[in-house]
Amino acid sequence: MYSFQVTGSGRGLGRSIAQSLAKEGAKVICVDINEKNNHETAQLIKDEGGLAAAYTVNVAKVEQVMELAKTIEIEHGPVDILVNNAALVMGMTVAEWDPAEIIASYNVNVLSLYWMVMAFLPSMRKRNDGHIVAISSISALAPTICLSIYGATKAAVSSRSYNLNSYCT
Ligand SMILES: NC(=O)c1ccc[n+]([C@@H]2O[C@H](COP(=O)([O-])OP(=O)(O)OC[C@H]3O[C@@H](n4cnc5c(N)ncnc54)[C@H](O)[C@@H]3O)[C@@H](O)[C@H]2O)c1
Repeated sequence: MYSFQVTGSGRGLGRSIAQSLAKEGAKVICVDINEKNNHETAQLIKDEGGLAAAYTVNVAKVEQVMELAKTIEIEHGPVDILVNNAALVMGMTVAEWDPAEIIASYNVNVLSLYWMVMAFLPSMRKRNDGHIVAISSISALAPTICLSIYGATKAAVSSRSYNLNSYCT
């Protein structure tokens, strides 16, 4: 049985991905900062006969991500496929730009991917097996109204993913 870890699994696309993977027979490790929503996702999967566990983690915090990797390895064994889906989608005009929100967007949308790779890639390399997925956006490629910061974070997500293969070899 494949073990998937899905971030941002508390709602939206992350919840749908988690439920779909569980229906295909995978064990799904649900990771979200929103404890209530995330437990609800895990419960929905279990109610449908699937296997799921929920962990409350802020993926933007490197210490929490490193700790998560250790806990998951002990409690569930290795993660086969990591789906980095958690993101902050903030629409702001230039007049509304807020430094704290811009920093938060980069922390969650971009830097968390580096923390996840640092935490989970070593075990995948040791096993010579594993996949790392990241959800980007059309906003990475085309200007989207009020989404210049979000789009730039997603362009970074795409670029990091194109380059990940070369880090791994
Ligand atoms: N919704 C769209 O139209 C769309 C389009 C293109 C790409 N995307 C991408 O798809 C992904 C999911 O989008 P969505 O619309 O389902 O988002 P959403 O806002 O509905 O859900 C995001 C989830 O991530 C969680 N999250 C946020 N910050 C977190 C953190 N620091 N640590 C852990 N969890 C955190 C939230 O609690 C939430 O459950 C994102 O990467 C988004 O950029 C969405």
